[in-house]
Amino acid sequence: MENQIFEEVDNYIINLLATEDKALLDAKNSSDLVGIPQQCISAIQGKFLQTMMMACNAKRVLELGTFVGYSAIWIAKALPEDGNLISIDIDEKISSLAQKNIDNAGLSAKIELKVGSALDILPQFIANKEEAFDMIFIDANKPPYKEYFKYALQLSRPGTIIILDNVIRKGKVLDETTTDEVVKGVQRLNQFLSRCKEVTAVMLQSAGVKDHDGMAVVVVNRS
Ligand code: DHB
Ligand code: MG
Repeated sequence: MENQIFEEVDNYIINLLATEDKALLDAKNSSDLVGIPQQCISAIQGKFLQTMMMACNAKRVLELGTFVGYSAIWIAKALPEDGNLISIDIDEKISSLAQKNIDNAGLSAKIELKVGSALDILPQFIANKEEAFDMIFIDANKPPYKEYFKYALQLSRPGTIIILDNVIRKGKVLDETTTDEVVKGVQRLNQFLSRCKEVTAVMLQSAGVKDHDGMAVVVVNRS
């Protein structure tokens, strides 16, 4: 297998710097129990989110796309005592599974799950003049990625870090004639990012324990 070396190196890194405790493994495995395809970030990506949180001293974090709560657990573990994570998912059944996984990790005091569409909830946050978030992780459904990102900008301040998962999609983003709505959604985001003057941004591709994909790492510029 041509991918084997990437997977072995991922596992090397995970063993050194991103080991998962039982609560994280339970959360990751919980999606198999309910027959949902595995969409969790990798342990390395979880540690990457934590590392970014330390860089910006993140106390207030927003996540779009809770799924089974695996990434929320990584994030909440890196929050200070008075920090909190708001995580939004549209799927009620998955959110209740996420809540169980979060309870199992002993992190329910730090994580607030909201069930609904981020396209409804984020405009409410903006209208209510919610305090800006220190970090925002976008990992929800891909077609509205650009819209999510624009709302995220409105909930940010200079220095806010915004991270978006799945911006490479096995290289399918290179295909300008694709009809895949997932890929098209990501392409719209990526194009928007390339023109956005308010941020400094890059994309990092990854391959290994997960399929070839990548994350966009964005910092909101000083005004
Ligand atoms: C898939 C992977 C993801 O990380 C995600 O957020 C959604 C879908 C996938 O592999 O299909
Ligand atoms: Mg993802």
